[in-house]
Amino acid sequence: MLHRLRAQADDPILALMVQLAGDTREGKIDLGVGVYKDDSGATPIMRSIKQAEYQLWQAQQTKSYGALAGDPAFLDAMRQLVLGDAADAAQVAAIATPGGTGAVHQALELLRMAQPGARVFAPVPTWANHLSILAHLGIEAVPYRYYDAETHSVDHTGMLADLAQLRSGDAVLLHGCCHNPTGADPDMAQWRALIDVMNARGAVPLIDLAYLGFGDGLEADAAATRAIAESCPVVLVAASCSKNFGIYRERTGILLAVMQDGALQARAQGALTHLNRQNYSFPPDHGARLVSMVLTDGALRADWQAELEAMRHRMTDLRTLLAQTLGAAVGTDRFAYLAQHRGMFSRLPVTPEQVATLRDAHAIYMAPDGRINIAGLHTNTIAPLADALVAVGI
Ligand SMILES: Cc1ncc(COP(=O)(O)O)c(C=O)c1O
Repeated sequence: MLHRLRAQADDPILALMVQLAGDTREGKIDLGVGVYKDDSGATPIMRSIKQAEYQLWQAQQTKSYGALAGDPAFLDAMRQLVLGDAADAAQVAAIATPGGTGAVHQALELLRMAQPGARVFAPVPTWANHLSILAHLGIEAVPYRYYDAETHSVDHTGMLADLAQLRSGDAVLLHGCCHNPTGADPDMAQWRALIDVMNARGAVPLIDLAYLGFGDGLEADAAATRAIAESCPVVLVAASCSKNFGIYRERTGILLAVMQDGALQARAQGALTHLNRQNYSFPPDHGARLVSMVLTDGALRADWQAELEAMRHRMTDLRTLLAQTLGAAVGTDRFAYLAQHRGMFSRLPVTPEQVATLRDAHAIYMAPDGRINIAGLHTNTIAPLADALVAVGI
């Protein structure tokens, strides 16, 4: 039976990680995988998480099963972090999931269950795993224009033109902030126009929120999600705690289904809990418990926010320095967009061949589409990167 399986294509980013690990050259620069790094190149455990872990270790008396939907304290704290006052608890159904990936998967399963045949409009480009999960679930993906590579900004006209093809019940995949892989987000007026087209067509927004707090701060980064939740009849939000709490391997995320008609809440909650039961039964608990401890303890929360802000500032400072250094190296302002983008990623205007030369000749690793992880930079590696980019002819 196993001989019937077809070979799976490698995930390009994960393949890059393997190549990088085998590279013994001094001074190699890793701009590939989407993991936050500090000035020393480490991905540290956040102070508040370490403290919560210590407290949990002392206090926890059992590892027996918890609740199928996930720890209620986690669901509650995350609902408030993501939605603020945009929806009452009675209008939200929620489940804990294994990371943001699990939340995206569960959201798509819910869509398929509630609306068989619904299509999912996905931005071009998007996180590669979106497309492969959609294919895996047998859900039709319809590409919509998102990024204008000439202007390095959102192709708003193209996006609205493509979304005019939505049919009632289709879903629109959106990145709530810090778009991966481009770093270009709509502004508030553009979000409002998106809301109008989704409502006019009867489409369901599915918001992937993997970088809350990495863009302009927790409140600003949640603004689009909250505006959509206030304005659309039903919204699905898949939020990850991997990056903003630095708990990647704990697999912690949440799926929120927000609805204006609270009479649907119990049915939606039942369906979500059922999906957890079918896919993995009880969701991972350890990371979720740490998150709820951090969010509900005043001192831990203040420290978490301060550390998250420091991470965010490190990325915006690196963006500014990279834009300035590259601008000076090529004598134009054509890299100014790097400072305007938000989150962990932006794309450099390089061909796959130039990406290969950067890797082979300069030990600089980035995704084949030119996506770079800004947090993988260091003030000391920006000049060598700029020199290498000039050497490959950007
Ligand atoms: C856009 C986007 N969505 C979701 C995820 C999933 O994150 P995780 O499953 O690790 O929480 C990522 C991670 O890279 C991402 O970039």
